[in-house]
Amino acid sequence: MKFLAALSIALATASSVAAQAVGGDFSEQVLSALRSNGLTSLADAVAANPAVVVALQSPGNKTVLAPTNQALESAGDLPEGDALVNLLSYHVLNGSYTNDRIDDGPLLARTLLTSGVELPGNASQVVILDSQGDDDNERSFVKGNTANVTFANGTDGPVVGSIRVQPIETVLTPPGTLSSVLGEVEGASAAVEAFNGADLVTALSNTRGITIFVPNNAAFQAVQANISSAPQEAQLAVLRNHVINGTTIYSPQIDEDAGDNTVEDGLRQYSRATSASGQELRFVEEDDNVFVETEGARARIVRSDLLFANGVAHVIDGVLFNTNTNQTAADDAEEEGNNNAGGGSSGGNTGAGGGSGGGSGSSPDGALSGATASMTVASLCAAVIAGALTLA
Ligand SMILES: *[C@@H]1O[C@H](CO)[C@@H](O)[C@H](O)[C@H]1NC(C)=O
Ligand SMILES: *[C@@H]1O[C@H](CO)[C@@H](O)[C@H](O)[C@H]1NC(C)=O
Ligand SMILES: *[C@@H]1O[C@H](CO)[C@@H](O)[C@H](O)[C@H]1NC(C)=O
Ligand SMILES: *[C@@H]1O[C@H](CO)[C@@H](O)[C@H](O)[C@H]1NC(C)=O
Ligand SMILES: *[C@@H]1O[C@H](CO)[C@@H](O)[C@H](O)[C@H]1NC(C)=O
Ligand SMILES: *[C@@H]1O[C@H](CO)[C@@H](O)[C@H](O)[C@H]1NC(C)=O
Ligand SMILES: *[C@@H]1O[C@H](CO)[C@@H](O)[C@H](O)[C@H]1NC(C)=O
Ligand SMILES: *[C@@H]1O[C@H](CO)[C@@H](O)[C@H](O)[C@H]1NC(C)=O
Repeated sequence: MKFLAALSIALATASSVAAQAVGGDFSEQVLSALRSNGLTSLADAVAANPAVVVALQSPGNKTVLAPTNQALESAGDLPEGDALVNLLSYHVLNGSYTNDRIDDGPLLARTLLTSGVELPGNASQVVILDSQGDDDNERSFVKGNTANVTFANGTDGPVVGSIRVQPIETVLTPPGTLSSVLGEVEGASAAVEAFNGADLVTALSNTRGITIFVPNNAAFQAVQANISSAPQEAQLAVLRNHVINGTTIYSPQIDEDAGDNTVEDGLRQYSRATSASGQELRFVEEDDNVFVETEGARARIVRSDLLFANGVAHVIDGVLFNTNTNQTAADDAEEEGNNNAGGGSSGGNTGAGGGSGGGSGSSPDGALSGATASMTVASLCAAVIAGALTLA
């Protein structure tokens, strides 16, 4: 019931999209599929909004992370208006993500959410996909800041045109602000307090695209005395050495063997970066562990990919205690980073069994980059309808 209510709101929003000629066969297919699944009111709404069907056929493969009816029920009341559109946009991935592909993960996938997002190159918000369990029991999941969201099924969901539907067990929460996310990181309050005390959090929140390494409490407390006794400038240098300004580096982008400007599957890879104090940070992989090194210090990443509106945080088990600064290097790195979205929009394909219609056309996915908000809404609705087809 709530799902339908959400849909009709989304569809109403989409009605502002200029109507275009609808491929008759495809339109009929969608409508009859809706009706035969008992989604008659939805079918009526779609019929009244031909632009939605057009959007279903828009170029570019998409994956809808479609909360099951039960997931929507436990989520309670969904937000309305723009907030609903944003929430749903965060459930649509650019590209086709099958269990097989995620199995090779972790993977970074771009969603269609851009509102309130401040990432380098104006890129849309991301999800990190990963899988767990052994061969027979493999399950994909969306990595979450407080809980991971599991796919409802071990097998891939259906394909409707260029849209892959993957049912998920919980409604996703779009990443919040840096301070709200830092506030919920367990066992890292000491470092967060230090960032706050140095008035850095506000500056960081207003920066487009940051990566921040947050020492856990044990790590921070071990050098608390050293930090407090250092001159204020040195303290600030240490804190800024935990920040990469203008660049987001998610765990799937860390590769100790990557050369400068290495791009794999559309995703930039990093073996090192320059911190906001202008110091080099190097990534080292040993067994299944990833370490960050700076002059005189080394820390292991103990929790990765905490997402927020303008970047990503990783919790580490040591303080990157380096009091040196090089403003020139910091500025250069910031400038270079902000000219580079870092990729992650790899389209992929919908795999075997692709349905009729959809997927053709040569223009890039206009839903976000150039075009109007209404186009985003339309493709979103299209995706949601595809989800409804299978979940009814
Ligand atoms: C991001 O968007 C702003 C404002 O719309 C624009 O000025 C800027 O050129 C864009 N940057 C990139 C890298 O697309
Ligand atoms: C989510 O999955 C990751 C593995 O990618 C794991 O390290 C983490 O502990 C999980 N998060 C929660 C809250 O269970
Ligand atoms: C899971 O997949 C099986 C086999 O494809 C299907 O019968 C079942 O309905 C699916 N369950 C959900 C919740 O999608
Ligand atoms: C990031 O770089 C910009 C431009 O150099 C600067 O204004 C801003 O203060 C920097 N932010 C941090 C946290 O260093
Ligand atoms: C912190 O201070 C102690 C005692 O002075 C010293 O042994 C230790 O090396 C210092 N740690 C760092 C990271 O500077
Ligand atoms: C600071 O960084 C710049 C640019 O990377 C570099 O040319 C310069 O040698 C560095 N200065 C010092 C003192 O390391
Ligand atoms: C989606 O992927 C396509 C092809 O891989 C790319 O051209 C487009 O820019 C991407 N869009 C977004 C919003 O990431
Ligand atoms: C979308 O998926 C189809 C297979 O269903 C594939 O042929 C096509 O290349 C994919 N498109 C993109 C942009 O990856």
